[in-house]
Amino acid sequence: SKLSIIGFLQDIGASKRGVDMGSYAIRAEKLVEKLKALGYQVSDEGNVECYSMDEGDTLESGNPKLRYAAAIRRNMLELKEQVQAIVQQDAMPIVLGGDHSMAMGSLAGLKERYQGNLGLLWVDAHGDFNTPETTPSGNVHGMPLAAITGRGAPELVDIGPFPGVREENTVLFGIRDLDPEESMLIRESRVTMYTIRDIIERGFYTCLQEALQVVTTGVDQFHLSFDMDSIDPIFAPGTGTPVMGGLNDREVLYLMERVHETGRLVSMDLVEVNPALDVGNKTARLAAELILRALGKKTL
Ligand code: ARG
Ligand code: MN
Ligand code: MN
Ligand code: MN
Repeated sequence: SKLSIIGFLQDIGASKRGVDMGSYAIRAEKLVEKLKALGYQVSDEGNVECYSMDEGDTLESGNPKLRYAAAIRRNMLELKEQVQAIVQQDAMPIVLGGDHSMAMGSLAGLKERYQGNLGLLWVDAHGDFNTPETTPSGNVHGMPLAAITGRGAPELVDIGPFPGVREENTVLFGIRDLDPEESMLIRESRVTMYTIRDIIERGFYTCLQEALQVVTTGVDQFHLSFDMDSIDPIFAPGTGTPVMGGLNDREVLYLMERVHETGRLVSMDLVEVNPALDVGNKTARLAAELILRALGKKTL
């Protein structure tokens, strides 16, 4: 089967420099070669050139609660088009970020092909469920899941237009840092959330079993949006908004193996690798290995 790799060179959703280089660092771990060795037909589609912080303050939206909105929107529409073209050819898009707002472009691109018959597994320390009303930072990478489920700024919701997934088939996993009003919005929604508390109290295995059930029951396929900050900063230091007390390397590698074993993964984002903050290329190396496991790499 066919895989298409895209690099998404965006940092303005995080309003911190460096995350736009994430895709280079992951490719440097020989991702394409290793995916080919698994037997896939892989095409590297190159990068979506983005408006980025290199261009300076001129891109600021003027709204401190929705920073860089117009530039982000334009970047997302570019990604949407590319993802659309890829899925039309029955290939699996693997988008390497880039800040997490890019999930809006990915899901927008999947919408037509999968017509809402799509679950969503969102692995993250954060909920990314803020709206301009609830955001403490104004950073759009804290908002994409709200937009994808149809909430918040019209100029983001409109990218899909969203909703583009079934909320009852949407899961947040690994969560340990929510803003107060964001937390309320999630709890009022039909999104299923597994926090680190849940994982400690009920066990990683049980929570993962349930999560995979939720994203596959009543839908034929799902998208994975994997934020590297879901992982503990000990194992993944190269990320812009690290939060202590995260998932460990064994857990996320296993999670990816289980994702593969569902046989229902059709698309993936791997986001928030920031090489400027990394130690060696540790975070990118783990990211590459996670992608390989999600695509069936066996170690036993
Ligand atoms: N909740 C915080 C905010 O909205 C942090 C979001 C971090 N998101 C991410 N994709 N790293 O600003
Ligand atoms: Mn995060
Ligand atoms: Mn995120
Ligand atoms: Mn970040």
